[in-house]
Amino acid sequence: MQIKKAIYLVSSPDIDKCPAADRPEYAFIGRSNVGKSSLINMLCNNDKLAKTSASPGKTQLINHFDIVSAAPAPGNPKQEAYYNWYLVDLPGYGFAKVSISSRRRWEQMIENYLRKRENLAQVFVLIDARHSPQKIDLEFLESLKKWEVPFSLVFTKSDKESQRVVSKNVKDFLEAMRKTWMFLPRHFITSAVKKSGRDKLLGYVNEMNEELSE
Ligand code: GTP
Ligand code: MG
Repeated sequence: MQIKKAIYLVSSPDIDKCPAADRPEYAFIGRSNVGKSSLINMLCNNDKLAKTSASPGKTQLINHFDIVSAAPAPGNPKQEAYYNWYLVDLPGYGFAKVSISSRRRWEQMIENYLRKRENLAQVFVLIDARHSPQKIDLEFLESLKKWEVPFSLVFTKSDKESQRVVSKNVKDFLEAMRKTWMFLPRHFITSAVKKSGRDKLLGYVNEMNEELSE
C-alpha cells in the first residue's frame, strides 16, 4: 500500500465535534509516551504530521488525519484502487501527572468515542515492547472487550531492545492475555526509528479497506 495523501484535519474535544463519519476510521491509542504520534508519522512517511514529544501527555484531543492510499485493485492487480480513510491519534492513558478530574474527562471522552464512533473499523493498541506485560494495558484491553471494540496490538520501540527481549515481552503479553481471552488479537512489531513493521500494518489496513468498500 502507498500513502498518497496524509494531512492533519482537526482536533476535537468530543465525538460530536469529529468530522463526518463517512469513511473507515483507524484509531491509535496506548499508554502516554508509548509512541503513538511517532508511529503515525512513520506510517505516513511524514515526521511533521503528528506532534511528538519526549514529555508524556502531549496529545490531548481526538486528532483526525485525512488519508488517501493506493494499492493494487483486488481482482485486477494491474490497476490501482484508491481508498479514503481517517487515521486518528488519541491521547494516551496512564500519565501519572494528571489530576483526577482530567483523568475522568479523558476516560469519558475515550469511552464515548470508542463506543459510539460508527465508522471506527479498528483500534490499534500500542504496547511498549521494552517492558514485560503491564497491568494498565491489560486492563485497557478488558475495557475494549466490555465495549465490544475490535482491536489489534502494535508493539512499539522494538529498536530499543534486543530481538530476544522483544520476542519474550511479546510472548509474555499474549500469554497474560490468555488468562481472560478466548482468542488472541493480531499483533505487529514496529519501530518508528527503523521504520519496521510498516508494510505489514498498512497491508492490514488495506485489507480492511478492501472489505469495507465491497
Ligand atoms: P503522548 O501523545 O504524549 O501520549 O505520546 P505518544 O504516545 O504520541 O508518543 P510520541 O510519539 O510522542 O513518542 C514519545 C517518545 O518516544 C519520543 O521521544 C519519541 O521520539 C520516542 N519514540 C517513539 N517511537 C519510538 C521508536 O520506535 N523508537 C525509539 N527509539 N523511540 C521512539
Ligand atoms: Mg502523541
